Amino acid sequence: MIIPRPTRLTRLPGRFTFDAATALRAHGEALGAAGLLRTLLAPATGLPLAPADDGRVVFAVDPGLSTLGDEGYELSVDPDAVLLRAARPAGLLRGVQTLRQLLPAQALSERPVAGVAWQMPCVRITDVPRYAWRGALIDVARHFQPLAYLRRFTDLLALHKLNVLHLHLTDDQGWRMPVAALPRLTEVGAVRARTMLGRAGSGRFDDVPHGGAYTAAELRSLVAYAAARGVTVVPEIEMPGHVRAALAAYPEIGNVPGRALDVWTEWGVCEQVLGMHDGALEFCRTVLGEVMDVFPSPYVHVGGDECPVTEWERSPAARRRAAELGLAAPKALHGWFLGRIGAFLTESGRTPVCWAEDSGTLPPEFTVMPWRDAAHGLAAARRGHRVVMAPHRATYLDYPQTAGPGEPLGQAGEIVDVAAVHRGSAPPPWEPEAAARVLGTQAQLWTEFVPTAGHAEYLLFPRLCALADRAWNPAGDWSADVLPALHAHTARLAALGVRYGHLPPLPDTAAGPGPRTTLPRKP
Ligand code: ACM
Repeated sequence: MIIPRPTRLTRLPGRFTFDAATALRAHGEALGAAGLLRTLLAPATGLPLAPADDGRVVFAVDPGLSTLGDEGYELSVDPDAVLLRAARPAGLLRGVQTLRQLLPAQALSERPVAGVAWQMPCVRITDVPRYAWRGALIDVARHFQPLAYLRRFTDLLALHKLNVLHLHLTDDQGWRMPVAALPRLTEVGAVRARTMLGRAGSGRFDDVPHGGAYTAAELRSLVAYAAARGVTVVPEIEMPGHVRAALAAYPEIGNVPGRALDVWTEWGVCEQVLGMHDGALEFCRTVLGEVMDVFPSPYVHVGGDECPVTEWERSPAARRRAAELGLAAPKALHGWFLGRIGAFLTESGRTPVCWAEDSGTLPPEFTVMPWRDAAHGLAAARRGHRVVMAPHRATYLDYPQTAGPGEPLGQAGEIVDVAAVHRGSAPPPWEPEAAARVLGTQAQLWTEFVPTAGHAEYLLFPRLCALADRAWNPAGDWSADVLPALHAHTARLAALGVRYGHLPPLPDTAAGPGPRTTLPRKP
């Protein structure tokens, strides 16, 4: 059972065996996928999977298969040959992940595994994703993760055929993106003196500085690593709120001249935001210019969420600007500012992305991510925005996954269990015009309470697997199809060393017409 479940799979008799003599045949655009399979299988299997013109595992890009779209693929596994075909190279990369999952779970181990026959069942698969945007956000601002972890995270996304790594690079509590023209962003903004213990407003802190920043070379290497796996890294630079770390580095971009601020050590929504003056706009353009230089992603996320307007209401400069622009109130500066930034990104050939947190208007060129409520996504789609679903009750993996007493401290107010993720990560039925504007769906891992990679993986899995399944293949029943596939998939997570979280037990009764029959429990 493969996750995400393929859209069409037929099992045939027989098995194909990968052994020391198995060779890969690929040319041109198919070479990347063949190389990826070789790279991914090497640690566990030690198989050379050498390139050869008469190789029995064949990778082919065939533009004639255009009904498969950019990421679909066809796979035939026969006892004596494997044929993986797609219209585009990205489709082959998805097929590589299916090949990995058709092998015994130990094939995913990062250490050599002895005594396993590397066999897969014969199959015919035609597999095409439902949504083009299947993403996961990781917040490296609240707690930094080194590049090595981002590479592992990328591999875990790719295994699940997720194709967007949304990198939340800046926030009140830390700035992780190097900007050569503005060195203090990482010299000052990358480290906070201490960290709030517990939830927002606790008033308690540790006494341990926390920090970290990437180099441009590291980020470029991540972009290339992700691209080789069919994953686009979408950078997010927060503005005009969630900028306290930037204000600590460059107070002049704020609303109060001469004010000294520290990198925020608390959780919650910070009052201090960008000034609405030309200096702040120029700052953002400089930052985004360097961001675009490092990240080739067609999409650039600029936050836009949780921006208190009290500073603008108090600031003579902001009030003057609002009046000059003919705006009804300083709070309308938020839309004006995003419009200026959106225009800059559009003129640079990129699509701007921001959070949508109510039904209010946003500049039309933005692709939006409704995070509070799916209904905000519908309102945005009806106004013509492209939408990536991110409703917190289904996609925020910083909420606890069960109400059990053993769960670590998480975001307050909701329980987001794996079934809720599967149910709610794709939009409910909307009218066709609105539904057609939904690009896809995305999981969010905010990290206020997530200091370590192990903790992150406990929260991510298996909920991220459920989201990936829903985003790729919405067909099928939760209990009959998805839950058993997720159970089977835990062997792969275990082989990868993922300490996964909660998965409800399989129903031990067969529900169907007629009387319920109790099945014998597996030992
Ligand atoms: C958000 O959770 N503030 C996007």
